[in-house]
Amino acid sequence: MLKAAVLVSGGGTNLQAIIDSIHDGRITDACIDIVVSNNPGAYALERAAKAGIETRVISPKSYPDRPAFNQALTDFLKERGVDLIVLAGFMVVLPEMLIKAFPNRIINVHPSLIPAFCGTGFYGLRVHEAALARGVKVSGATVHFVDEGTDTGPIILQQAVQVEEGDTPEILQRRIMEQAEWKIMPKAIDLIAHGKVTVKDGKVYISK
Ligand code: GAR
Repeated sequence: MLKAAVLVSGGGTNLQAIIDSIHDGRITDACIDIVVSNNPGAYALERAAKAGIETRVISPKSYPDRPAFNQALTDFLKERGVDLIVLAGFMVVLPEMLIKAFPNRIINVHPSLIPAFCGTGFYGLRVHEAALARGVKVSGATVHFVDEGTDTGPIILQQAVQVEEGDTPEILQRRIMEQAEWKIMPKAIDLIAHGKVTVKDGKVYISK
């Protein structure tokens, strides 16, 4: 049974999709061991509590400086002994020491088709604002492993979503969540739990 830590900062709809997928059997052989938030006010924490999942707040505000916060987050996840770290709307740049401690064992969902609209400064609604400003006809979501860069790690799954005339960033965000993020994030966890995902030369291979 794969033990996952899910890291969140906000609403937690991706966390909810993972919880629901474990309940209805779309994810098997995996459990959420802990939900960690940098933000004590994150609604995601309530979702976790409702599902009976342990939660922990690790906020930068509780530490004297960034290195102390980074150390606390890394130590906590190492001591917890999780197999996989899932970034589900976690709006914190991960420290290098954490990434090194979990090579190819951290995954992130990003709300665009990487390499479009990703990297520093592209998160949440900003991604959709940029996509609409560029006038793309198709956007989508990507689940990828996390490496030392920003949104540069090996791509596990992607799902394209149509952009419609009259879309606002909020409307597009919601469609991409419903049609892509909430599907490919649980799917990626299930594939990893079943040992079907391997990384070679920076690319992901999925076995049947
Ligand atoms: C999601 O759209 C996720 O893809 C995005 O934040 C949202 C979190 O929503 N993540 C990023 O932009 C990371 N660069 P949620 O809290 O409802 O899951």
